[in-house]
Amino acid sequence: MADDFMHAFTPEEQKQLPHHIAIIMDGNGRWARSRGKPRLFGHRNGVKNVRDVVHAAREIGVPYVTLYAFSQENQNRPKNEKSGLMKLLEEFIKIELKGMQRDGTRLRAIGDLGGLPEFAQKAVEDAIEKTKDNDSWNLTLALNYGSRQEVLRAVSSCCLKHESDNGELTWADFAQHLETKDLPDPDLIIRTSGEFRLSNFLLLQAAYAEIFVSPLHWPDFNRDALADALREYIRRERRFGKTSEQLKTQKTSHNSS
Ligand code: FPP
Repeated sequence: MADDFMHAFTPEEQKQLPHHIAIIMDGNGRWARSRGKPRLFGHRNGVKNVRDVVHAAREIGVPYVTLYAFSQENQNRPKNEKSGLMKLLEEFIKIELKGMQRDGTRLRAIGDLGGLPEFAQKAVEDAIEKTKDNDSWNLTLALNYGSRQEVLRAVSSCCLKHESDNGELTWADFAQHLETKDLPDPDLIIRTSGEFRLSNFLLLQAAYAEIFVSPLHWPDFNRDALADALREYIRRERRFGKTSEQLKTQKTSHNSS
């Protein structure tokens, strides 16, 4: 299966794969409802899918994956859904930790972990600590995360640091105050369930990200769907404000040097 996934891409295509994929895993509730099941059934199947998609991304050689697992706005969900999600998170971390240690995955989290129940916060912090020296692969969970809130915190900390500076603030300086300071910007943002919005996820970091919206609900977004998203990403021309002609000239001079 792993081999099949690798071979779905030519060596040339493999070179053009994104470095960082960030995923908005939407539609667990609708997936469950369409089966006449409670929302938590959808989340449970969503977690199963996390395992499969994350492993597929790793196998194909995408070095960074970030998952929007719980937004600050999700705090407004019914109590039993929130506690169910937190238990699933704890279980996921505990089960995956061994594998992460074995295969050199470094776990990070962005968001206000202090706003999670203590048992979930502990499990996450413990796994972050135990994997902090791993450098083969990178998984980041956005937990109790909100991009606007992150930016406000970054502005405060940046103002404090640069108070005495009268020099110009660069984007690179500012980005050091974001929680993503150790991560490259996402190249590809995938959102499932057919919704065309970012929902307060990595708003500044997504400045040049390609966005791929899948009609599938998250529990159905399998390896084949990931391969489709990656193929679409490879087809796109990322111009970063330049013209197509400039990019072609750049490519030719790269190839001839
Ligand atoms: C959106 O579906 C999904 C969430 C709010 C949570 C995503 C969480 C998981 C997949 C499980 C936890 C993750 C990890 C990494 C352990 P929705 O409930 O908004 O679906 P709906 O829009 O159809 O109602």
